[in-house]
Amino acid sequence: MCGIVGYIGEKQAYPILIKGLQRLEYRGYDSAGVALLNGDLNIYKKSGKVAELENFVKEKDISGTMGVAHTRWATHGEPNDINAHPHFSQSKDIAIIHNGIIENYSVLKDELLNRGYKFTSNTDSEVLIHLIDDIQKNEKVNLAQAVRITLNQVIGAYAIVVISKNEPDKLVAAKKGSPLVIGIGNGDFYIASDATPIVEYTKNVVYLNDYEIAVIKKNGNLDIRTTKNEKHTPYIQKLELNLSQLQKEGFEHFMLKEIYEQPRSIKDSLRGRLNVNKGLVFLGGIADYEQKLINAEKIVIIACGTSWHAGLVGEYLLEDIARVPVEVEYASEFRYRNSVVSENDVFIAISQSGETADTIAAIELAQSKGATVLGICNVVGSTIARITDAGSYTHAGPEIGVASTKAFTAQVTILTLMALMIAKKRGSISTSKFHQLITELEGIPDKVEKTLKASNIVEAIAEKFKYAKNFLYLGRGYNFPVALEGALKLKEISYIHAEGYPAAEMKHGPIALIDENMPVVFIAPKTGLYEKVKSNIEEVKSRKGVIIAIVTEGDTDIKKIADYTVEIPQTEAMFVPLLSTIPLQILSYHIAVMRNCNVDQPRNLAKSVTVE
Ligand code: M6R
Repeated sequence: MCGIVGYIGEKQAYPILIKGLQRLEYRGYDSAGVALLNGDLNIYKKSGKVAELENFVKEKDISGTMGVAHTRWATHGEPNDINAHPHFSQSKDIAIIHNGIIENYSVLKDELLNRGYKFTSNTDSEVLIHLIDDIQKNEKVNLAQAVRITLNQVIGAYAIVVISKNEPDKLVAAKKGSPLVIGIGNGDFYIASDATPIVEYTKNVVYLNDYEIAVIKKNGNLDIRTTKNEKHTPYIQKLELNLSQLQKEGFEHFMLKEIYEQPRSIKDSLRGRLNVNKGLVFLGGIADYEQKLINAEKIVIIACGTSWHAGLVGEYLLEDIARVPVEVEYASEFRYRNSVVSENDVFIAISQSGETADTIAAIELAQSKGATVLGICNVVGSTIARITDAGSYTHAGPEIGVASTKAFTAQVTILTLMALMIAKKRGSISTSKFHQLITELEGIPDKVEKTLKASNIVEAIAEKFKYAKNFLYLGRGYNFPVALEGALKLKEISYIHAEGYPAAEMKHGPIALIDENMPVVFIAPKTGLYEKVKSNIEEVKSRKGVIIAIVTEGDTDIKKIADYTVEIPQTEAMFVPLLSTIPLQILSYHIAVMRNCNVDQPRNLAKSVTVE
C-alpha cells in the first residue's frame, strides 16, 4: 500500500517523480503529493489520483533537481488533501513520505503534543517528521542521525524518504517491513517502492534491507548503515525488467492485456523447467531443497487472496499425484494462531508481489519454528523472494492490474511442476502417467490460447448479466478453487456480490438463494466429478436459477440444461484450472467495463497489501 518515489541528481525531478507515481499508482490511489527542493521546499498534494495532482500543480513552481513523491492507500486518516503525503515539519524545513504503519504512533503523538507540536493531519506518518525535527533541534544532530534515533523509537513498518531544506545535498531513506529500491544512475539516484519507476533510467539497483538507512547524496555517494549505525556495503543487482512490460501495448486496460498474456506467461513459467524428451521436471531455484520436499511430513501453503486460491489448487495437485499431506492457510490467520509446526514441515509461501505483510509475517513465524519455507513469487528481488530459504519465480512479468490474473495461472503452473517433480521422485505415479502428464502440460499454453478465442461469447454473456446483484460460482474438486477465484474477480472489479462454493455444499445453505434472478456459474468440465456436477446443475435449474456453465468442448449434455455455455479445450482434470479460470476472468472484466468501473484500479483496493 502506498507508493513512494524520490530523485536526487542534476535532472529536473518533477517529471521523474510524476511518472514514477503513475507506475506506482497500483499500490494506492487515494491521494498523491510531491515535495520539491529548489532553495525553498515546496509541497503540493491532492486527494484522488495522480492526474488530480498533475492538474493541481499547473501554474505552480515545480522546479528542483531533488524531490520526493507519494501515492497513498489510506490506513490512518481518511483520503483527503490534508492526510496526503508528503508531510512537513512545523518549520516547513523537512518533509517525509512514508509507506507502512507506525503502530506506536499515538504514544509518540501524545509526547509530541505535550512538547507543543501541532499536528495538521490524522495520519500515523506525521509523528515521524515531528520526531525527526524534535531530535534535530534538541540533540543538535544532522538529518541522518535524527532519522536513525527516530527509527529506534518506532514500532511498526515503514519505508520512508526524508528531504531537508537545511541539508540540500541529500535524501535519507530507510525501510523496515515495506519495500524500497534505490536505482543507481549516472551520478544521480532514483528511489522507489519497486523497480518500475526506475527501470527506464538505470538497471543497477540496490534493494534496501530491513533496518537499513541510506544517505543518498547529490555527489554520487551512497552510504548505507543500519539503525545501529553499522556500515553496510551496498549490494548492486541488475534489473531484468523491460519498459515495454509496463505499458498497455494497445489494450484498453492492463487487466485485459494480462489476461491475453497468459499463453506466454504460462510458457515462461514452464521454460527451462520442463523437458518432455528427457522426461524431466526441474525447478532450479529449489533444487537444494528437493529432498526436503520429497521427505516432507506435511506441506503447508501460506498466502492471501488470489494467491491463496492458487494454493488451494496446489493442495489438490500435491495430494492427488504426489501423495503428500497439504494444508492451505490464510497467512493472516496462520500468523496469529497457535499452529503446530514441525521442523520436517515444508512451507510454500505464494505471493505475486512478494510484499504482502501477512504472508511475510507468516513466513517469519514458520522459520522461527524451524520449518523450511520456499517461495513462489512473481516480483524478482521482492521481500518474500529474499527472505524465503529458496524459491521459484513465476516469470509472469509485471502484473499491474489490481485484479490478479496471469499471476494466478503462473502460480498454479509452478505448483503443478512441483507436484509432478515430487510425484516422480516419490514414485507416487507411474513413469508412463508422468510422461503423459508432462506432455499434456507442455501443450497447455496452446489450449489457453484457444480458450481466449471464446471471449466474444463471454462478452455476450456479460451483457446479459451486467446488472445482476448477486452471482454464485460453483465447482468441485480442482474447480472449487476456480469458483472462489471467479467470485473474487467479479467482486473486486465490478462490485457485484459473488460467492464461490463447492458445488455439493450448495444444498447445505446457498440453495436458498436460488431464484430466477440468481446467475449461477458452474465450472463443469468433463472430468472426474462431471456427473455429480451435472446433478448439481439440475438442482439449480429446477429452482429456476440461471445457469452459465464452463464446459469441455463438444459437451452436449450440459448444453441441454444450461442457459449459456462457454467451451474450454479438453485436458486432464489437474490442468483444468489453467483453462477454466480464463473465461471467468474475461466475464468479470467485461461486466466491470460495462458497469463503468475502474478495472485496473478498483475502489478501496491496492495491488500489494503491505499493511496487515
Ligand atoms: O501479492 P500477493 O499475491 O501476495 O497478493 C495477495 C492478494 O492481496 C491478492 O491476490 C489480491 O487478492 C488480488 N487483488 C486478487 O485479485
